[in-house]
Amino acid sequence: MRAALVFLLMAGAGQAQDTPDFAAIGTLFADRCVICHSGTDAPLGLHLDTYQGVLNGSDNGPVVIAGDAQSPLLQRLRGQAEPQMPLDGPPFLSEAEITLVANWVAAGMPEGTATFAALPERPRPAPGADVLWSDVEPIFLKVCAKCHSDNSKVGGPPEGLRLDTWEHALAADERVAVVPGNPEMSEIWRRITGLADPRMPHDGPPWLPEDDIRLIRDWIAQGARAADGTLAPIPVGARIRLRGVLTGETEIDGARFTVDGGTRIDDLPAIGGQAEMRGEVQPDGTVRATRLRDR
Ligand code: HEC
Ligand code: HEC
Repeated sequence: MRAALVFLLMAGAGQAQDTPDFAAIGTLFADRCVICHSGTDAPLGLHLDTYQGVLNGSDNGPVVIAGDAQSPLLQRLRGQAEPQMPLDGPPFLSEAEITLVANWVAAGMPEGTATFAALPERPRPAPGADVLWSDVEPIFLKVCAKCHSDNSKVGGPPEGLRLDTWEHALAADERVAVVPGNPEMSEIWRRITGLADPRMPHDGPPWLPEDDIRLIRDWIAQGARAADGTLAPIPVGARIRLRGVLTGETEIDGARFTVDGGTRIDDLPAIGGQAEMRGEVQPDGTVRATRLRDR
């Protein structure tokens, strides 16, 4: 009897200690969620950088409901609703971290005394200023990664293209999406402007704001640098296929290429006509056409 009583008392004390307030939750969210869930372009309007933002929920309504173990946010953390959060996982949250959030919801989401200030709007380098991966990363994470990542909600990253890390964005397994220094030749730029179909993001409109499109263009034009300034390696030999309007003798949609004796040319249309170019990236980042024809 005495032993059982002591056990109960200890269990009760343990529970009291385990009831977290927003100090712990806010710190966890700051670490794992706010790179996406902050600012005017927060996915589904869900802001997780402040207590009020969490309580406000998303465009769909509340994400935490006091005492509800099936609150949408908890379902996302456990992978009961897809895509699982954090979207850039794995790694997802540990069991202990998920239990912490679940206990906080069970206790009615106490705020506590710690305050978290709303994150400032993402800084946007002025036109012509240096643009690094860290400047464009939030765009790719917030808008593209729900499809273009291993956590894809469309059953795998389309065309093998993952846009969740610098290395992945530059990977040249199937085709390249980025030709460093050459935005016009880069499939990413062609897709976000609608020069190539289907336009991205695939679930748009809305399309990316002009300012984001400009930022991605500058990032590629300046060599698609990493967050620490490292220039992206040129994917020498990578294959390129362009279909669009012949805007010059050796130019489609403004993307210039070189033609030589080895280029096979069939039924080339007049300037202004529809053409297709297949080519290969050269060591200097230019593209040499291997085939050019009308379509
Ligand atoms: C890499 C970006 C990213 C990170 C990091 C991230 N999310 Fe998300 N989150 C998204 C996107 C994008 C969506 C919308 C997905 C969709 O359209 O289905 C989303 C949706 C959600 C939803 C669904 C809201 C609703 O209305 O159904 C919840 C809840 C959520 N996230 C919570 C979290 C939590 C909690 C974390 C941190 C543990 C987190 N997210 C981290 C990008 C992210
Ligand atoms: C809702 C899912 C979804 C979202 C969001 C999305 N994409 Fe896509 N993306 C696709 C699908 C599906 C394809 C393949 C479409 C096709 O070419 O038929 C694709 C293809 C692409 C391609 C062509 C790849 C290749 O090798 O042909 C690029 C580049 C691309 N997306 C970039 C982006 C960028 C940049 C964003 C964010 C601004 C984005 N996508 C957002 C689903 C998505």
